[in-house]
Amino acid sequence: MKIVVLQGSPNLKGSTNLLVESFTKGAQEAGHVVTRFDVCAMNVHACLGCVACGFEGPCAQSDDVGIIRKALLSADMVVFATPLYYYGMTAQLKNVVDRFAAYNTSLNQKHLKAACLAVGGGTDDWTFDALDSHFKTLVRYIEMENVGTVYGFGCDVPETTAASDYPKQAYELGKNL
Ligand SMILES: Cc1cc2nc3c(=O)[nH]c(=O)nc-3n(C[C@H](O)[C@H](O)[C@H](O)COP(=O)(O)O)c2cc1C
Repeated sequence: MKIVVLQGSPNLKGSTNLLVESFTKGAQEAGHVVTRFDVCAMNVHACLGCVACGFEGPCAQSDDVGIIRKALLSADMVVFATPLYYYGMTAQLKNVVDRFAAYNTSLNQKHLKAACLAVGGGTDDWTFDALDSHFKTLVRYIEMENVGTVYGFGCDVPETTAASDYPKQAYELGKNL
């Protein structure tokens, strides 16, 4: 499979990265091709809501979303990877998702497999409820197939994350696709 990872943390060597690297290792060992986009390091603007695209067409804005759009429309799977920011995905990753509007129909027709990798400092059992609900709603709306999630509770700093079981879970998710 061709897998696109949308890595939504601004910390390129942070906890989200640890899960992404482990997932990628597993997926590559299983023969998949992984393309990673560090979306916070890319030029991605927020959706203007102008609907010049008519929800399927050229976007009025010309930025790096064009690269992501092309990759997703030739992929078999997408991975949303993010640290928890106020119980949701980062704004930068959300910008990428909002810009799906210009290729919504094409994306729906792909029936992509989808996974979510996330880390958060919280340890409450509800820490990932809002993100998980959002992810599952996106999967439903975009007609994707949820193939798995890894939610790293108590992952406040990369050292804690590295010592946890979550990188292994991400590796196994990639390896067993
Ligand atoms: C702006 C901001 C908001 C955060 N909000 C939450 C939150 O709502 N819940 C939580 O558990 N952790 C929260 N955290 C902690 C991060 O999710 C956590 O430190 C994570 O490991 C950072 O991942 P990274 O190293 O990939 O950047 C927040 C951190 C920042 C900087």
